[in-house]
Amino acid sequence: MICLFLSIFANIFQTGWTGVNERTFLAVKPDGVQRKLVGEIVQRFERKGFKLVGLKLMQASEELLREHYSELRSKPFFSGLIAYMSSGPVVAMVWQGLDVVKTARKMLGETNPADSLPGTIRGDYCVEVGRNVIHGSDSVASAQREISLWFRQNELLCWEDNCSHWIYN
Ligand code: RTP
Ligand code: MG
Repeated sequence: MICLFLSIFANIFQTGWTGVNERTFLAVKPDGVQRKLVGEIVQRFERKGFKLVGLKLMQASEELLREHYSELRSKPFFSGLIAYMSSGPVVAMVWQGLDVVKTARKMLGETNPADSLPGTIRGDYCVEVGRNVIHGSDSVASAQREISLWFRQNELLCWEDNCSHWIYN
């Protein structure tokens, strides 16, 4: 009940979740799904200690993707990006935890896999910027915008993580 109230409040007033309740939006891109990397990627975030609060396999529409990447619409690669992202199913996810936005970006690596260190997802599993297997929100504000674009309120679950006292002190 408290979670539901906080979630509606956060949505209406765009305050977002903070502290251990911070949330980010991640999506395994079509190449990641085709290359059977979904389990590996989910495992990395689970093992890190973050909490999964939403997950769905979906075919994203071009309309949704144009809105999602609207800041990049003037870039020369924009139409190729939309074609790539709509070329097959994606796995859309919301993860929660302390500093999850910034930490998830570190776990992803750089935009260009060639600049990504081994140990990061892009450093370990891909080669080219146009096939970089995963998306991650770049700020708390972007995360809020993207979560409300990709998920309905009732698709995000508030659940008690029985391990949380082994992750946070
Ligand atoms: P994302 O949003 O997908 O997590 O990636 P990002 O923040 O690391 O990079 P961003 O600048 O937001 O770019 C979004 C996606 O566009 C593709 N891209 N292609 N051909 C190119 O030079 C180029 N630059 C970017 C990548 O798929 C990138 O992840
Ligand atoms: Mg981005």
